[in-house]
Amino acid sequence: MSNQPPTIRRPSVTDVAKRAGVSVGTVSNVLNRPESVSERTRAKVERVIGELNFVRNASARQLRSGEVSTVGAVVLDIANPFFTEMARGIEDRLAQDDFTLMLCSSDENPEREARFLRLFEERGVRGVIATPSHGSLDSLLRLRDHGIEVVLLDHTSPVPGLASVAVDDVGGASLAMEHLIGLGHQHFAFLNGPLNLRQCVDRRDGVYRTLHAHGLDPAVALEEIALDALNADAGDAGVRELWARTGPRPTAIFCANDFTALGALRALSELEVEVPGDVAVVGYDDVMFASMLTTPLTSVRQPMHTLGWTAADMLLTRRSSGEDAAQVEFEPELVVRASSGAA
Ligand code: RIB
Repeated sequence: MSNQPPTIRRPSVTDVAKRAGVSVGTVSNVLNRPESVSERTRAKVERVIGELNFVRNASARQLRSGEVSTVGAVVLDIANPFFTEMARGIEDRLAQDDFTLMLCSSDENPEREARFLRLFEERGVRGVIATPSHGSLDSLLRLRDHGIEVVLLDHTSPVPGLASVAVDDVGGASLAMEHLIGLGHQHFAFLNGPLNLRQCVDRRDGVYRTLHAHGLDPAVALEEIALDALNADAGDAGVRELWARTGPRPTAIFCANDFTALGALRALSELEVEVPGDVAVVGYDDVMFASMLTTPLTSVRQPMHTLGWTAADMLLTRRSSGEDAAQVEFEPELVVRASSGAA
């Protein structure tokens, strides 16, 4: 006795035609050009479609017509609310033109990213929106050279002719540090992710530029914790590493994203460190939970939904390549809350 579920054959156009006593071409006309079929025949075919519970095969239709209505997107980690909110922006724009979204996470792994890009190409997607998992854009440029439109998301474009939508992360990190310096802090910790990510490189750049601008020597004023990922567990481990060090503790912690800050706050709470009494904490992204925490998180806000929406719009309005390739950079905004003690 097989425990496999019975394979259910989906009714085909031929089944509908036979049952309705018409040709396959007539069924196709009812589906695609109903105005070309008499009311009587159309009603008969539509009744049979209902009786058989026939659903058209979009892939087959797309193959025949050459038009494709799916966009592929590969981001770093859809468990990070930043990418979830951004994906919603993509989805909302695609839905306006009856497009669907195929969404994947690279987990910051170039091989995994390349595998998804190959799958997108094999499936003939309309275009690809990608947050690159590492410094090299070769696999994305190859995709574009194969005729598939590409838009970089949450990543500036290093080459003309390749569209991009990003935020000024150097300026964003500077907003965080200016805020903490303005509160009188002189000793900082920076929990940052892997430097193969452009976001982490730019945020670190913003931290260093701001310290120098205020005459603060990073070698003295800054303790950097290099995390292997930008998520809650990494943020938790980063704080424990920091608190295991000897010597005076930083009075302010800047986390490269809110997901990391969430873990940092959990560790600080378990170590019975008061926020902001003993240490101020600032995150980055301003995801939905930032304002809902027991100690609401000060964060550098990115326009997540707008980022995704803009990237999808570039793709659908064919502004992603050639001299029309758009390269948009949004400005971040500091949202001050209780975690930095200045609300
Ligand atoms: O994925 C890491 C981070 O980069 C996200 O949290 C967001 O800040 C993006 O820019």
